[in-house]
Amino acid sequence: MSVEPGRLLPLLTSHRSGRSPVTCEYRCGNACAHPAPNTSDNEYFGDVVRNVVSRRGALRAGAVMTATAAGFAALSGTAAATPAVPPALAGRGRPGKPGRPVPGTDFDPVAPNSADAVTIPDGYEQEVVIRWGDPVLPGAPRFDFNKQTAAGQAKQFGYNNDFVGLIPQDAGGWRNLLVVNHEYTTETDMFPAGTYDANNPTEEQVKIAWAAHGLSVVQAVRDPRGGLKVVPSRYNRRITMDTEFEVRGPAAGSEYLKTSADPTGRKVLGTQNNCAGGVTPWGTVLSGEENFNQYFANAGTVTDPVAAARLKRYGLSGAASTRKWERFDKRWDVAQEPNEVHRFGWVVEIDPHDPNSKPVKHTALGRFKHEAANIKITKDNRVAVYSGDDERFDYIYKFVSKGKYKKGTSAYARRHNSALLDDGTLYVAKFTGDSPASEIDGTGKLPSDGEFDGYGEWIPLASGNESFVDGFTAEEVYVFTRLAADKVGATKMDRPEDIEANPVNGRVYAALTNNSDRGAAGKAGADEPNPRNGNRNGHVLEWEEHRGDAASTKFSWRLLLVCGDPATADTYFGGFPKDQVSPISCPDNLAFDPYGNLWISTDGNALGSNDGLFSVPVDGPNRGQVKQFLTVPVGAETCGPVVTDDVVLVAVQHPGEGAGAANPESHWPDGGSANPRPSIVAVWKKGRSGAGKIGVR
Ligand code: FEO
Ligand code: CA
Ligand code: CA
Repeated sequence: MSVEPGRLLPLLTSHRSGRSPVTCEYRCGNACAHPAPNTSDNEYFGDVVRNVVSRRGALRAGAVMTATAAGFAALSGTAAATPAVPPALAGRGRPGKPGRPVPGTDFDPVAPNSADAVTIPDGYEQEVVIRWGDPVLPGAPRFDFNKQTAAGQAKQFGYNNDFVGLIPQDAGGWRNLLVVNHEYTTETDMFPAGTYDANNPTEEQVKIAWAAHGLSVVQAVRDPRGGLKVVPSRYNRRITMDTEFEVRGPAAGSEYLKTSADPTGRKVLGTQNNCAGGVTPWGTVLSGEENFNQYFANAGTVTDPVAAARLKRYGLSGAASTRKWERFDKRWDVAQEPNEVHRFGWVVEIDPHDPNSKPVKHTALGRFKHEAANIKITKDNRVAVYSGDDERFDYIYKFVSKGKYKKGTSAYARRHNSALLDDGTLYVAKFTGDSPASEIDGTGKLPSDGEFDGYGEWIPLASGNESFVDGFTAEEVYVFTRLAADKVGATKMDRPEDIEANPVNGRVYAALTNNSDRGAAGKAGADEPNPRNGNRNGHVLEWEEHRGDAASTKFSWRLLLVCGDPATADTYFGGFPKDQVSPISCPDNLAFDPYGNLWISTDGNALGSNDGLFSVPVDGPNRGQVKQFLTVPVGAETCGPVVTDDVVLVAVQHPGEGAGAANPESHWPDGGSANPRPSIVAVWKKGRSGAGKIGVR
């Protein structure tokens, strides 16, 4: 978001989620208050079918397209001819009578509330694992809210923790690497009252913000009494805006990535707005650079129409940036350094096992507002990476590597498998409903076949150095991925957030957090995969790749949840009785427990209570039984869930955000009159120490 010099922060502007206006300003640059950047008209279905067929023809030189009749019916839009439930999903997890508590979810749900506390079920205990300002590196000063320095912050735990990865270093999980994203800074809450002028930040304040971004790696050992303790360790590491990244993959060295500071186009300082992420099977962490656009100034001065259109599609506009970083480093000024913005919006990879390793930006996974990146291994041992583009009306992507995965987390395996992400095929998703369009009326009313469901197609965009998109070089597909995807008829989704594959049933799940603009004048209206106009509460989508193979280019899908107040007619909980579920709104981050239950954290609860963490079985008679496991303090968002057999971790992001440092709305976690501090919390079952169970077997 750009703010004219001299203008006050728009504390009184209307914002459309349950979030504070300050959260909207600092977290995503008020994305919802701006027109959605996707103004493309990509719904010409006949063209899509023709393009897909011709591309496939080109790719498979003379091969006969072996689409199943049902699959092709879906592509051609003849929905009535298709079965009500896709065969791949039929017969599994059909709704039934509520059964006994499902293993992993045997707790009494927490009621919605607005407490300034982490509220957990009876019989559980909690403890803060690490909080903003706690020491990470040797020599880190003790946190002092009134005396933060950039040098100190660079050795301390960063701000606004989001993704959490827990990587065991031994079979018992006694020693672990904890990897955490620091998505963004909220300067009005970070600096003592009266010391931060949003229109004139000091250089030291800006440098504190640079040091508070990025990631932290710490070693965390099991506390025999429960929870995790952060310990001094050679693995402990801070990644900040000063850390050098290596750009890899097909766009490395591209003309679009060269700057005056880096004429090679292969070295970038820092990573920002890292939202969710994923732990790879080889023990590294992938992290998505999300709302990077808001950090850049003066996009409004760019007059070249091609460059201006590209900036606009990525949500860049206006003059000064919110944080005014451009005053202290010209790389944040698009008018002076036009390519720096192309060096953000990637998936980055961190190897926490080697504190000296250089982090990587993976260009083969495309450039957009990556929410996260999670991996599923294909049937022939290649690597598929799923990632959502978190913007209203943007898309879901998949990358499939060319080379094959090697098991293990050795240094060799980490190097080999990381390199797989440099060469493969990038796809974007097209979802097709199987019910007549006339039955999707935008209210959330189920169609006559009883489900929002259908078929899908992965449309290839580029593979290695070959582009499949007319008018785009491969390099342009990777750097301007949104514009390439617009061309091929991808489905406009309601803000794709986290996407994760279920380790037990193999299906893939995506959180679509909300989209208040769905069905607005001039905008795409409800369709079967996004069935509510003015969607304030979001939904959760599940799909099964054809033959269960992540390399497949076809899939069948259905909605698991249409979120909101279960008492209203527009919600759906997998067919489970709606009077026996917790209300849930704005699903964001996803995780699975070892039993295959889905855990969902929320951001921006539009139902008026605090955000939280929820469990939901996805198979068997309890499919759709949403239960709230915890709530986070007032003003906070629940992030980064990790759910193991004996501990739950959540990141409490931006507690009390919006009230400002003078009169904090939250005093969590330190209590008293303390200012709030984003922190990681561990929760475990009372009396079961480190070996307790979240649920029952
Ligand atoms: Fe940073 Fe898409 O939430
Ligand atoms: Ca249907
Ligand atoms: Ca998120």
